[in-house]
Amino acid sequence: MGIIKIQQGDITTMAVDAIVNAANTTLLGGGGVDGAIHQAAGPELLVACQQLHGCATGEAKITAGYQLPAKYVIHTPGPIWRDGSQSEAQLLHNSYANSLALAAAHHCRTVAFPSISTGVYRYPLAQAATIALTTIRDFLLQNKGVQIVTLVCFDQRTLAAYQQAYRDVVG
Ligand code: APR
Repeated sequence: MGIIKIQQGDITTMAVDAIVNAANTTLLGGGGVDGAIHQAAGPELLVACQQLHGCATGEAKITAGYQLPAKYVIHTPGPIWRDGSQSEAQLLHNSYANSLALAAAHHCRTVAFPSISTGVYRYPLAQAATIALTTIRDFLLQNKGVQIVTLVCFDQRTLAAYQQAYRDVVG
């Protein structure tokens, strides 16, 4: 089974095969990690995203990484948290699962994720971390291509939540 790592940092500095972008459905950039990735990748990333014509929530699309140290960027819009009854958990699972499937299809061995949907989209952090770790664990049990998945947490609170979810889910 592949390895799951949890660390604090800035995902734009990760020299991995693919970093995942917590995007929106337009794929035309935004704030948060989306803004940081576009800033670091340079203007070619937006041009590439404009050719993709958006992306549905929970789906994933891939571009080159351009000026990023990562080879690819996988863009996935996570769900906006409403009240938990709008299929938010399933859609968040889909974002992680579809991003990993796309990474495997592009022969990526190392993949880095931010904490999808827990910023502007206001997904409750502990629930999101549990869904992320469960989805990643289950994917790695079934797929041998991806070797290392790193959760890159931007702040201490997020790091603590993912470390707790790791203990709960992976053990
Ligand atoms: N590296 C890693 N994580 C980061 C970085 C970074 N450089 N910058 C922000 N984050 C973290 C946030 O602290 C949060 O924990 O990414 C997580 C996701 O937060 P958002 O970026 O707000 O993403 P999300 O909640 O999924 O909302 C997506 O925000 O930026 C817009 O265009 C984006 O409309 C979309 C929405």
